[in-house]
Amino acid sequence: MCGIVGAVAQRDVAEILVEGLRRLEYRGYDSAGVAILDTECNLQRVRRLGKVKELADAVDSNPIIGGTGIAHTRWATHGEPSEANAHPHVSGDISIVHNGIIENHEVLRAVLQERGYVFESQTDTEVIAHLVEWELRSAKSLLEAVQKTAAQLEGAYGTVAMDRRDPERLVVARSGSPLVIGLGIGENFLASDQLALLNVTRRFMFLEEGDVAEITRRDVNIFDVHGNAVEREITESNAEHDAGDKGQYRHFMQKEIFEQPTALINTMEGRISNDTVIVESIGAGAADILRNVEHVQIVACGTSYNAGMTARYWFEALAGVSCDVEIASEFRYRKFVTRPNSLLITLSQSGETADTLAALRLAKEKGYMSAMTICNVAGSSLVRESDLAFMTRAGTEIGVASTKAFTTQLATLLMFVTALGKQKGVIDPQKEKEIVTSLHQLPTQIEKALAFDKPIEQLAEDFADKHHALFLGRGEFYPIAMEGSLKLKEISYIHAEAYAAGELKHGPLALIDADMPVIVVAPTNDLLEKLKSNIEEVRARGGLLYVFADSDAGFEECEGMKIITMPKVDEFIAPIFYTIPMQLLSYHVALIKGTDVDQPRNLAKAVTVE
Ligand code: M6R
Repeated sequence: MCGIVGAVAQRDVAEILVEGLRRLEYRGYDSAGVAILDTECNLQRVRRLGKVKELADAVDSNPIIGGTGIAHTRWATHGEPSEANAHPHVSGDISIVHNGIIENHEVLRAVLQERGYVFESQTDTEVIAHLVEWELRSAKSLLEAVQKTAAQLEGAYGTVAMDRRDPERLVVARSGSPLVIGLGIGENFLASDQLALLNVTRRFMFLEEGDVAEITRRDVNIFDVHGNAVEREITESNAEHDAGDKGQYRHFMQKEIFEQPTALINTMEGRISNDTVIVESIGAGAADILRNVEHVQIVACGTSYNAGMTARYWFEALAGVSCDVEIASEFRYRKFVTRPNSLLITLSQSGETADTLAALRLAKEKGYMSAMTICNVAGSSLVRESDLAFMTRAGTEIGVASTKAFTTQLATLLMFVTALGKQKGVIDPQKEKEIVTSLHQLPTQIEKALAFDKPIEQLAEDFADKHHALFLGRGEFYPIAMEGSLKLKEISYIHAEAYAAGELKHGPLALIDADMPVIVVAPTNDLLEKLKSNIEEVRARGGLLYVFADSDAGFEECEGMKIITMPKVDEFIAPIFYTIPMQLLSYHVALIKGTDVDQPRNLAKAVTVE
């Protein structure tokens, strides 16, 4: 959730560290701090409450000269957002930054207090600083002290230690929270996400679970959980260099909404021919796995869960394969029964969501035939730990509210379902051609949906004074309503709920009055007539309806019911298409409400804690 950056260089690193934090701010943003060893080996620590800009201004007005440093942007878990709780935390000559949660921090705190340590913060992180300081009293090196400390920690962490008396060395430890080392020439870096370092290097080494590494200007020495020296592969990143720039857009979310046609082209490139899905593009061995799959279990959180819920309709209707979808935080603690020949699919933008990762690890023990991830971040934990990784290729997503990650997940899932149905002999060449033809049209159709930006901006005015909203859909448009409601609540702070429209009369109908806007996703399909009856139930009770439909659906605008007539699109891609107006609506409502669109309160982009 938080972001870490570190550097050991011969040049001044303050600017590199602060720029890295800026690029990581999407992960957490209630306070930030930096600690740098200056040319006299004195520790210069600056921490500020609020966004990275506060820290950057403080560092600008009092520049720090020094080549070794660590920095952190925080998303509070233990202890309120405050300067005292901001990282880095210091114990004697040791400075520490940390992502994750130390679950046994209370026990450790008590032990350390008995040893005479005085705590200056409410954080769990401070125990790491004192533990390293304590261990270093008897250890031969900072590396050994961190290894001994790591052995005492329970929970999830990515942590970096710096010793004032050993100024050209950083020691990092990873367990449950990602860390990547960026390799430079005569200088080395580290971060919790490669994005932080793309302006200084493109060569990266991803640490694995249990790794502890010692980083100097010239060397990187990595040790596994047993203390054995290990090598980790060096990868060249092709992530976008300027992903951290908004360009002509006012917000990253807006930029990412408008990037969707291009993102979708990238998602599909090399994976579909004129009329077929190229099964081999899913990965080596995919064809065999697909032939044997009898059941699919999808596990995900948030927006990714909504993508899974949409795909469930496709798995069963198109490929004839049964599919269950579950929220990862529930799945991981449920005593589930593994079905025979069941394929586990995790869905995740970041590839680092703690609950989804835990679910994957559990499923591997529980006899799933194979585990595949549909993920956006190459090199992420889910990608590295899954048997198959089918990448969404959305490009870096910075806005906390997921947009292009969702639509590219859906396109990836539709390609996957088609490949599965084909391998199982359920989708014939004619059907495959129809689906693939629709997929080819998708980027152009999304452009058409984006053209509704202006009318939706006007519509958003109606929501400015509302405190609640309901979203309705049926079939595969129910999860699209769920996604619409998640987007609205997340960035505009309007309380929103989504219902399968047929469920209205079983309770939610009681909520309907003239103050309750009801947004309906209502394209022409087999369930339209049923949905129209549900709409009538709302109208009869004075509800305010906003119906997104196509011209064939036959709605007529009348008092209490606005119709937004969208172009007609093929049924296969319609859920992806109808996501766009939902995204635009929430974006414009948030603008009117003046919220922090890219970094909504209390949220973080990558949820790497439970
Ligand atoms: O990185 P993931 O897709 O695993 O993240 C899952 C959720 O945390 C994420 O989708 C969250 O719900 C978004 N803020 C929604 O916009």
